[in-house]
Amino acid sequence: MSYDHLYESWYDDPLGYWGEQGTRIEWDTPWTAVFDADTGPYGRWFPGGRLNTSHNCLDRHVEAGAGDRLALVWDSAMTGESASYTYRELRDRVAKVAGALAAVGVGRGDRVVIYMPMVPEAAIAMLACARLGAVHSVVFGGFAASELAARIDATEPRAIIAASCGLEPGRVVAYKPVLDAALIQARHRPEACFVLQRPQAIAELHPGRDHDLLAAEAAAHPHPPAPVAATDPLYILHTSGTTGRPKGVVRDNGGHAVALAASIPTIFGLQAGDVFWAASDVGWVVGHSYIVYAPLLAGLTTVMYEGKPVGTPDAGAFWNVIARHQVNVLFTAPTAIRAIRRQDPELELMDRYDISSLRAVFLAGERCDPPTATWLQSRLDRPVIDNWWQTETGWPITARFRGGELTPFKPGSGGRPSPGFEIRALDDNGVPLSADETGNLALRLPLPPGCAPTLWGDDDGYRASYLDEFPGWYRTGDAGHLDEDGDVWVLGRTDDIINVAGHRLSTGAMEEVLAAHPDVAECAVIGVTDSLKGESPVGLVVLKTAVNRDPETVVSELLDMVRSRIGAVAAFRTALVVDQLPKTRSGKILRRTLRDLANGEPVHVPPTIEDASVLERLRDTFPAPPAASVH
Ligand code: COA
Ligand code: AMP
Repeated sequence: MSYDHLYESWYDDPLGYWGEQGTRIEWDTPWTAVFDADTGPYGRWFPGGRLNTSHNCLDRHVEAGAGDRLALVWDSAMTGESASYTYRELRDRVAKVAGALAAVGVGRGDRVVIYMPMVPEAAIAMLACARLGAVHSVVFGGFAASELAARIDATEPRAIIAASCGLEPGRVVAYKPVLDAALIQARHRPEACFVLQRPQAIAELHPGRDHDLLAAEAAAHPHPPAPVAATDPLYILHTSGTTGRPKGVVRDNGGHAVALAASIPTIFGLQAGDVFWAASDVGWVVGHSYIVYAPLLAGLTTVMYEGKPVGTPDAGAFWNVIARHQVNVLFTAPTAIRAIRRQDPELELMDRYDISSLRAVFLAGERCDPPTATWLQSRLDRPVIDNWWQTETGWPITARFRGGELTPFKPGSGGRPSPGFEIRALDDNGVPLSADETGNLALRLPLPPGCAPTLWGDDDGYRASYLDEFPGWYRTGDAGHLDEDGDVWVLGRTDDIINVAGHRLSTGAMEEVLAAHPDVAECAVIGVTDSLKGESPVGLVVLKTAVNRDPETVVSELLDMVRSRIGAVAAFRTALVVDQLPKTRSGKILRRTLRDLANGEPVHVPPTIEDASVLERLRDTFPAPPAASVH
């Protein structure tokens, strides 16, 4: 099928298209309408329908006779262990963990925070929540206690499921002390915490509150799937916004199941029994959608990898996993490919492994720079597919589609719109621009199934963040253009969000931390181009006039503060003390100008600048982009 035919099959009859995709899912009660435009900020999908997502991921395949097919394969480069679960085995573990949660009172609509590294129990915990109709909120392991506390207070979980530790190269990251510290900081108290004890760091359990997860699972009665409304929330996933407060993106059950099940054949070109590996983390949206839910909804085998692209033990780690598990499609972030390329420019390590099962590589999380895309495609001789999406959309807005004829490879472009998305570049007044004109990338409402219907408890916040600026459109916060063929070119954010090694971070959140230092008068954090990580945060601070401490001491305190308040994932390694920051006459810091200056790009000096000589003095502050390094 040609791309045009695929896209038109949606465009010409959106409700018919989604109604047909809805049959990929088993419903306890059929929906009464495919779409209801009158509920929520822009409408809701499949109202009236009832289903259970865990049933659709697990029981349904077992009942259809595929119980012995591999559902999940876990491979840890950190410990050398691996494990695999058939659909039947995974269903049984999920049902028991659901039973353990139910035993402490978790039921439909209750929230459960999950704070775990890349272990099978993370996926099992998510599916166990789905089984009960409880709403999970996974927190990425690289976040510090205060970020975890903020998410606990935002979601008010009845229970928390954590691991005793995660494993990073060269260090054991003890998660339980972070959880304990978060629970001291948080206002909300959960009724129970379940802890997966890993041998690398056995955690102390608080009597009365903490339970050993595996012991609780062993003692529990299996819980059946509880049907929920299609519009009930399946999960909340916090993501960086422009302020220090993260946004609680909500995903529903019905639309999510339909959209993800449809994406597997359409976008990824896979079918039941194929092997899919998303080398992401369950703490990010790619991990939710393509490590856990989509592969299982579609009856694939999903690979879960605990390790890095390089250093665990070398730059051949990805090819090793592909060969060992006969992976058909790899999904990763461009930064991982850049890390491999840097260490193995000729891909010599790849020749040690038989990767003949591999059919395509999908890249997302940040724009893939053309040299990396071209290098990978030519070395692998398989399609390398850049696909653009956001935590809010939950699945690719653009891609090249393996379900039909692939559209041309255009390195640097995110491909064409997925069926369900109509994309335009708008000028600042909301007027659609012509081909090749750069503007605000926007998606015509309604968003398709699977996209966030709202923010947790905050319909107004959703409207204000995404819908109010361009009526009738969802504002993505990305800038870019469409070319004559309809391919979409995403050029970067229009706000203060940066992308560091495929991780979405808020410079505003980092500025809040720096501003809390008693010696700092004012500050700005900008994203500076980094040849490995895409961007790296750099802080510029002006010290209070009375401060006469060694600036290097202050800088090292600032780096420590960001690490301890936001987390290691912020990768905040550079802060510079400067005399003054460039500002407009009304006092607004010119962050964009600073970014241009730091990146050695032509600097646009706005006419409203208060004192242009500041820029000249700052020019030497950025002698060279910070050296990229893999730790
Ligand atoms: N738990 C605890 N700490 C974590 C963590 C986790 N789950 N993930 C990352 N960190 C820590 C790292 O150990 C590092 O700590 P350090 O400052 O003590 O060295 C810090 O956070 C920054 O990590 P990162 O930015 O990932 O840099 P890195 O140098 O460790 O690794 C890459 C660089 C490119 C190898 C790595 O970023 C990578 O594999 N990126 C791919 C990301 C990805 O798949 N994103 C998902 C989007 S699809
Ligand atoms: P996240 O919500 O973490 O998935 O981050 C979403 C942001 O990452 C988007 O708004 C983009 O800025 C960026 N992004 C993700 N994928 C791509 C891509 N393929 N091309 C360009 N930018 C991307």
